[in-house]
Amino acid sequence: MNSDNLIIAIDGYSSSGKSTMARRLAKAIGYRYIDSGAMYRAVTLYAMQHGFIAADGSIDKAALVSALPEIKIDFKVTPDGQRTQLNGKDVEDEIRTLEVSAHVSPIATIAEVRRALVKMQRDMGESKGIVMDGRDIGTMVFPQAELKIFCDASAEKRAERRFKELTEKGQSITYEEVLANVVSRDHIDETRDESPLRCADDAVRLDNSEMTLEEQDRWLLDLFRRKTVGL
Ligand code: DC
Repeated sequence: MNSDNLIIAIDGYSSSGKSTMARRLAKAIGYRYIDSGAMYRAVTLYAMQHGFIAADGSIDKAALVSALPEIKIDFKVTPDGQRTQLNGKDVEDEIRTLEVSAHVSPIATIAEVRRALVKMQRDMGESKGIVMDGRDIGTMVFPQAELKIFCDASAEKRAERRFKELTEKGQSITYEEVLANVVSRDHIDETRDESPLRCADDAVRLDNSEMTLEEQDRWLLDLFRRKTVGL
């Protein structure tokens, strides 16, 4: 093991800034970044496009499970950052809509979906030198990860960030809708039977509610350096 080939797992609540944190850390240390939430979002989009989610939100689980072998997810590195590809099509913008956000947590409770995605995630981690963010990376996908971070911030702060991000992209929503979505996703993520969101025993906790991005970057790099000193 040397400082080029660690697995870094960043888990935490929705909109806790994990992805931004993971992306910036990966760039700073020359690692590959993988957004595992984007993979659950891509499966959700696929289910929506194929009519597996009814108007009342109920999911045709059998149809989705039998379609899983048809779902190929990849990430394309572009000058604008990494973009999620679903069966060869760029879906990066579509998977970020509030509609996908509203359906993704129930999709992520399906054991067969999780099993398929965990396998893809482990394959992506083969080359090591990766930063992966999600809900179960340190507990389930890579329990052997050399560095684990669990990220948190108040629900209000997280909703504020998400609201800003979505309205800047032109989506028309209210802060209250975003807050309700954040709270509901936290609940589903924490209480599901399959790999519920929880902090791994050996993870370092970070509450970034009052941190600037620069402070967070410094904190992370410092942690990484302490971890890799002498490797
Ligand atoms: O990080 P995000 O908000 O893009 O994640 C979308 C959803 O996917 C979230 O509600 C929980 C789920 N998810 C998961 O269950 N396990 C992961 N490793 C990543 C995301």
